[in-house]
Amino acid sequence: MHLEQNVPLAPYTTLRIGGPARYLALVTSEADLLEAIRFAREQKLALFPLGGGSNLVVPDEGYPGVVLKIDLPEAIELTRAEAKIQAEVSAGTEWNALVLHLCQQGLAGMECLAGIPGLVGGSPIQNIGAYGQEVSQTIHSVRALDLHTLNFVELSRQDCSFAYRSSIFNSTQRNRYIVARVTFRLDAAARPKLSYADLLRHFGPEASPTPLEVYEAVRRIRAAKGMLIDPANPSPDSRSAGSFFKNPIVDEHAYRHALQFLAQGEAQVPHWRLPSGAIKLAAAWLIERTGFPKGFTLTPDAPVGISSRHTLALINRTGSATCADLLRLRDHIQWRVANKFSIQLEQEPVTLKPYPDDRAPADA
Ligand code: EPU
Repeated sequence: MHLEQNVPLAPYTTLRIGGPARYLALVTSEADLLEAIRFAREQKLALFPLGGGSNLVVPDEGYPGVVLKIDLPEAIELTRAEAKIQAEVSAGTEWNALVLHLCQQGLAGMECLAGIPGLVGGSPIQNIGAYGQEVSQTIHSVRALDLHTLNFVELSRQDCSFAYRSSIFNSTQRNRYIVARVTFRLDAAARPKLSYADLLRHFGPEASPTPLEVYEAVRRIRAAKGMLIDPANPSPDSRSAGSFFKNPIVDEHAYRHALQFLAQGEAQVPHWRLPSGAIKLAAAWLIERTGFPKGFTLTPDAPVGISSRHTLALINRTGSATCADLLRLRDHIQWRVANKFSIQLEQEPVTLKPYPDDRAPADA
């Protein structure tokens, strides 16, 4: 295991914001993972597993413990299992590389998740989703290290309790597991199902595109929204953590209240009715109707702002913004949206906080 001290974390995040980690351990094997955890416990330090850093807000003070940079070698192994194609994928595999690989094999089920930054290990944590698909639809099981026992366990899809941007990993069992491998199962005969307006518009109602064609279309749509990170051509609009707020789930009353704020010529408040009867509203729309247009900044030369391509992405405009700058803008937006709509927008990316791990492991 490779260990360094006082390592700036900003370069490890897509927002490029945040202070240093007291220690950064480069984890390239499951043995490294155990060694790094033992080191943190010996030093009585908190620990945090870091994947692609694409959904993470790092405070300016940095992190007083051990950040485990998960750098497990990329690995995708395809086999047949119960009339399905099974993909066993290392947590360190780049998410988009997996989606591309499956689409190139003609396999459908993940094509709408093209272009999402980050690593496979992060995908079950917040149950990533886009354009009508969620990763929970294809996850079969998750191999994870249980920090309570220091044993690796295999959790089934049911064990993970997936919901919109949520799983046990970021709710009831937060800080308990470190994901090492994810197993997916895809139906070999499935064809892409287009359910999202952006994609239906792109292909037209009669089209029956291949997974690879959908993969390419999704990447183009994401790029147009500034939601695609192109390392060769970095743009300030993509120096973000993707959507900074979740789409709020509200009741009929809050939805009707929002209807009063339709702009002239606008037919409806963008929303999705859920099977439970609750209504998911588009946070981007609420933010715009509160008076924050695309490209908004608190002052003309502010280092942070709203993306000029999508109202839900907060961006590090200059590349040298601080976390304090970012949180000031976040608080301002949350406060004004709450005042106008009585809806509390919830932050989507994780804020790096010490991982409480001071329990003595039972069998370590
Ligand atoms: N809208 C605006 N202004 C904008 C953008 C959108 O008013 O600048 C309104 C439009 O009416 C649009 C609606 O919001 O119809 C929905 O917008 P969009 O289709 O872009 O999706 P979203 O709800 O803002 C969600 C996910 C994205 C995912 C897209 C596509 C969340 C929090 N975000 O965004 O995920 O890519 O759908 O499926 O659920 C992420 O989680 O980081 C992320 C990028």
